[in-house]
Amino acid sequence: MSTPTVYEMNHPLICHKISMMRDHRTPVKEFRELVHEVSLLLGYEATRDLPLVEHPVTTPVAETVGRFVDKQVALVPILRAGLGMVDAMMSLIPAAKIGHIGLYRDHDSLRPVEYYCKLPPDIENRQVLVLDPMLATGGSASEAIAMIKKRGAQRIKLVCIIAAPEGIAVLHRNHPDVEIVCGAIDEKLNEHGYIVPGLGDAGDRLYGTL
Ligand code: PRP
Ligand code: URA
Repeated sequence: MSTPTVYEMNHPLICHKISMMRDHRTPVKEFRELVHEVSLLLGYEATRDLPLVEHPVTTPVAETVGRFVDKQVALVPILRAGLGMVDAMMSLIPAAKIGHIGLYRDHDSLRPVEYYCKLPPDIENRQVLVLDPMLATGGSASEAIAMIKKRGAQRIKLVCIIAAPEGIAVLHRNHPDVEIVCGAIDEKLNEHGYIVPGLGDAGDRLYGTL
């Protein structure tokens, strides 16, 4: 079994943008733009180990060998909030296919409730990037990844903006092969399962449903 990895991007631009997202006064439009911008930076890191293949290229000046990404990618946002990360990832990997998993967290049990799943049929051959801004108890991400593995996917990473230590531990326990790429690791969960300090409910802040 491979060693579980969590990669916290310690980059000034990410720290700055996440701090703006945390501010409860940040309006919906700006919050959405910040999710996009942070996702671009996370996508850069999450794709760092994509394999490359060499092909000849003729520049206006000379023959050379170009290096091109040689792995198909599938992006799988967890609805709703994961949708806010898709456009940024698509601008980095335009050929990626997109699956959708609908899960919401039951307010009382905090357990994920599934309501939708549509994944690319060839997902087993793809590097899968699961997108969700928040890893709190880890229930939603664990369930989504179990659904993706059931369809045969073998290479999966979770890309999130803020992760709680509790969620990281749950994900590592349930899916030790899945690397987590995140923008920040916060302190803890509160008694309602919200990340502290966090940014509140990511879906509500993205879509103005507060
Ligand atoms: C949020 C978030 C994650 C989940 C994280 O979604 O986007 O999917 O909570 O919590 P967990 O790690 O404890 O499972 P939510 O359930 O609020 O649904 P929404 O995106 O539709 O608002
Ligand atoms: N889901 C969110 O959107 N925010 C949290 O803090 C926890 C779960």
